[in-house]
Amino acid sequence: MKIQLKPATSLAPLPAVVVTCGDETENNAITLAWVGTVNSVPPILTAAVRYSRHSLGIIERTGEFTVNLIPKELLHGLDVCGVTSGRDCDKFAAAGFTRAKGVNVKCPHIAESPASLECKVIRRVDLPTHAVFFGEVVSVLADERYVKDGRLRLPEGMLVTYVNGQYLETGAAIGTYGYTAGESK
Ligand SMILES: Cc1cc2nc3c(=O)[nH]c(=O)nc-3n(C[C@H](O)[C@H](O)[C@H](O)COP(=O)(O)O)c2cc1C
Repeated sequence: MKIQLKPATSLAPLPAVVVTCGDETENNAITLAWVGTVNSVPPILTAAVRYSRHSLGIIERTGEFTVNLIPKELLHGLDVCGVTSGRDCDKFAAAGFTRAKGVNVKCPHIAESPASLECKVIRRVDLPTHAVFFGEVVSVLADERYVKDGRLRLPEGMLVTYVNGQYLETGAAIGTYGYTAGESK
């Protein structure tokens, strides 16, 4: 039997990433779990940012952001960027992250991240609690150790997810895309 609960965004696990934003004069890093993949050609991601976040004004001003994927080893830095504000501190320093120069955006990315997805904002949608930035991915900066046949191939279980206030490991593969195709009905 299922019990009907009050409506909530109960979609989890979610990827936990650190989004960097800004330029040479001002930049910041914010932890986000509410990021999404919404279009393939061109590749478009979304980032949902609460109106109170310092990062919001920076993304709005520059029209750019970079999604940095976070492996288990960088979890401490991810949490730091999620509980401190760029209004009060240099979050790169606080998190132990190194700024790396952007390639197709002015925004720095995190050198230690295995993959940084540089995005240019193509649209902003204002919802009651969050502004949703739609970012077209203009470059994927991947650690060469994780590139195979020109594609990003991160090791299984490398990244962390976020569920109900907890960070979870991701696991080993349990199937491959389309493995049911051809099964008799
Ligand atoms: C795991 C985790 C996920 C988070 N996800 C979001 C999110 O999706 N959107 C958001 O606006 N804030 C999110 N936050 C909160 C911000 O990261 C946090 O408020 C941060 O201090 C804001 O930084 P800023 O003021 O420098 O922009 C999350 C925090 C954590 C720890």
